[in-house]
Amino acid sequence: MSDDIYFYEPAKGHGLAHDPFNSIVGPRPIGWISSQNESGGLNLAPYSFFNAFNYFPPIIGFASIGRKDSLRNIEATGEFVWNLVTRKLAEAMNQSCASVPPEVDEFVLAGLTPATSRCVKPPRVKESPVSFECRLTQILQLQTAAGNTVETWLVLGEVVGVHIARSLLKEGIYETAAAEPILRGGGPADYFQIAAEARFQMYRPK
Ligand SMILES: Cc1cc2nc3c(=O)[nH]c(=O)nc-3n(C[C@H](O)[C@H](O)[C@H](O)COP(=O)(O)O)c2cc1C
Repeated sequence: MSDDIYFYEPAKGHGLAHDPFNSIVGPRPIGWISSQNESGGLNLAPYSFFNAFNYFPPIIGFASIGRKDSLRNIEATGEFVWNLVTRKLAEAMNQSCASVPPEVDEFVLAGLTPATSRCVKPPRVKESPVSFECRLTQILQLQTAAGNTVETWLVLGEVVGVHIARSLLKEGIYETAAAEPILRGGGPADYFQIAAEARFQMYRPK
């Protein structure tokens, strides 16, 4: 075994100062998820175990580690909205992750404005330049290789409505960097910001 490689088996612990897992799988886009309970109470929370899983129809998903309010609301109503987190909205996004009782509206907590959605009931974040209105497709409880259930649920939804600030569309092309999206790195506090200088292009082999 090479001394140049640090090896560990996660089930036995990483043995490091910080778990490197989410620093390695990173930076990750953030799923800033708005949802509503059955009585219409609003909820907003960030999820960085988040990604897109299909193109047509577009399907996105996030993992709720534990049974959180977003998961409960989406189970009950079958709808949610994803909102893009930009550098300007970073602090508000952070406020919205506070562990507060279900009746607390994180829109108010974070000083954000709910804007009416067109296809689903939960509102989008008005201050965010891009939002996806989603209908629940599946909720999968994760399991280990041995088949034991894990207290994590993967929530998948079909994107049925897309809002894009026109300022981010240049001649019909969506400009990723122009929105200044932020992504979650690892450790307790790392984030990265997307900048145009970081872009390079590579075409697929024919
Ligand atoms: C950037 C960021 C990413 C997060 N990612 C996740 C995640 O992927 N899964 C998760 O369960 N919690 C995640 N959290 C914590 C939740 O946002 C937090 O538990 C929140 O209170 C859940 O809200 P809810 O109960 O209203 O759904 C994250 C927090 C931050 C700030």
